Amino acid sequence: MDALTSSPLGWLCAGVTALFGVTVLYVAKRSPVEKANVLVWRVLPALLGLLCMATLGAGRGLVVFCAACLIFSMYLGSRALLPVGDKAVLITGSDTGIGHALAKYLDNLGFVVFAGVLNKDGPGAEELRRTCSQRLSVLQLDITNVTQIQEAYLEVSEKVQNTGLWGVVNNAGILGFPADGELLPMSMYRQCMEVNFFGAVEVSKIFLPLLRKSQGRLVNMSSLAGGIPLPRLAAYGASKAALSMFSGVMRQELSKWGIKVAAIHPSGFRTGIQGTFDLWVKQEKELMENLPADTRQDYGEDYLLGLKSYFQRMPMSCDADLSPVLTAILHALLAERPHGLYTPGKGAYMLLCIFCYFPLWFYDFFISKMLSSESVPRALGTEAESKNL
Ligand SMILES: NC(=O)c1ccc[n+]([C@@H]2O[C@H](COP(=O)([O-])OP(=O)(O)OC[C@H]3O[C@@H](n4cnc5c(N)ncnc54)[C@H](OP(=O)(O)O)[C@@H]3O)[C@@H](O)[C@H]2O)c1
Repeated sequence: MDALTSSPLGWLCAGVTALFGVTVLYVAKRSPVEKANVLVWRVLPALLGLLCMATLGAGRGLVVFCAACLIFSMYLGSRALLPVGDKAVLITGSDTGIGHALAKYLDNLGFVVFAGVLNKDGPGAEELRRTCSQRLSVLQLDITNVTQIQEAYLEVSEKVQNTGLWGVVNNAGILGFPADGELLPMSMYRQCMEVNFFGAVEVSKIFLPLLRKSQGRLVNMSSLAGGIPLPRLAAYGASKAALSMFSGVMRQELSKWGIKVAAIHPSGFRTGIQGTFDLWVKQEKELMENLPADTRQDYGEDYLLGLKSYFQRMPMSCDADLSPVLTAILHALLAERPHGLYTPGKGAYMLLCIFCYFPLWFYDFFISKMLSSESVPRALGTEAESKNL
C-alpha cells in the first residue's frame, strides 16, 4: 500500500480523499443544520475513514483520518444545535418578508412563536393565524410605540410564566428612500433611526429581564449596509450600523448573564422592503419639497426623478429564496456556540472582507464599478460636456 502513495495513482487517490473531505465540509456548511448532522455524523466519516485506509495504508490512513475527524468535530461543534423543546421566541415585523417567513419557519419547527405585527388586522397577521399552529400568537407591536411594547411584554410574560422567553428577534425595519445623503430629508434619517435603531433598542431593553431568566438569545436584524458603506443608503445604513454596534456591545455585556447576542447582516433578498409605487411617489415628493433651490438646480430634475429607478433595479439583484437568512437566524437561536455576526446572502461576506482587508480607495472603486449608475447630476454633466468640447 505504501508503494501506492509514492506512485502517481497514490497521489491521485490522496487528492480524491482531500477533495472528498472538502466536499463534506462544504455540504455540511450549505445544508440546513439538522439534516447535515445526520449525514455528516453517520455516513460520511465511515466513508472518509475507508478512503484514507485504502489510499494511504493503515498507519498513515489512521493518522490522516484522526486529524480530519478532529478538524471536523471542531467545525461541527460550532454547528451543534440545542433542542427546540418548548422554546418561545418573539419576532418583530412579522407582517411581511423575512419576519413573516421566520414566524412560519420557527412555528413549523415546534417553537412557541410570538409574532409581533405592525397591523394585527392586516393580511400578514391574518395569514399567520390561518396557517400556523395554535402555539403561535399574533401581537400588535409597533416598535416605535412604547405602550405597545409594554403591552406585548405583559402578554408574553403571562404566557411564558413557566418556560420563559428564549429569544427575541429584532427584525422589524424600514429602508426609506434610497438617494444621495445630501438629498435625503432629515425626516428620513429620523424615521430610519426611529424604527431600525431606537425601536430595536427599546424592545431589547423591555424584554431583557425575560431573556436573563432563560439565559436566551437576542438576535438583531441589521444589514450588509450596516457593516459597509453603500451609496444612496446613508439613512438606512447609518441606522443599521448603529444597531450592529449596539449588538456588539450587548454581546460583550450580556455574556456575563449567559445571554448570547447575534447580528445578522443579509445582502439582498426579495421582500416587501422596497415598499410600493405610491410610497416611492410620496417619499420623492417629500425629498423634492425639502431641497434648497441651488441643490435642486445642481442635481437637476432628470437625476432627481430618476432616483426611483433604484427600486425598479433592486429586485433583479435580490434573492427570492429567504432560506439562507432563516437558517442563519435559527443558528443564532439554537447553536450551542452561535456566531456574533452572520452574513447570509450573495456577496455579503465577500464585500465585508473587501471592506475590512483592502485599502479604502480600492473598496470605494470596487463599489463605484459594481453599483455604477448612468445618471449624473446636471451640473457634473455640463462640466464633463464642456471639457469634451
Ligand atoms: N430584504 C433584504 O434584502 C434585507 C437585507 C438586509 C436587511 N434586511 C432587514 O431585514 C428586516 C426585515 O426586512 P424585510 O426584507 O423582510 O422587509 P419587509 O417585508 O418590509 O419587512 C419589514 C417588516 O417590518 C414591519 N415594520 C415596519 N415598521 C415597523 C414598526 N414601526 N413596528 C413594527 N413593525 C414594523 C413592516 O410592516 P409593514 O409591511 O406593514 O410596513 C414589515 O412587516 C429589516 O430589518 C430589514 O432592514 C432586509
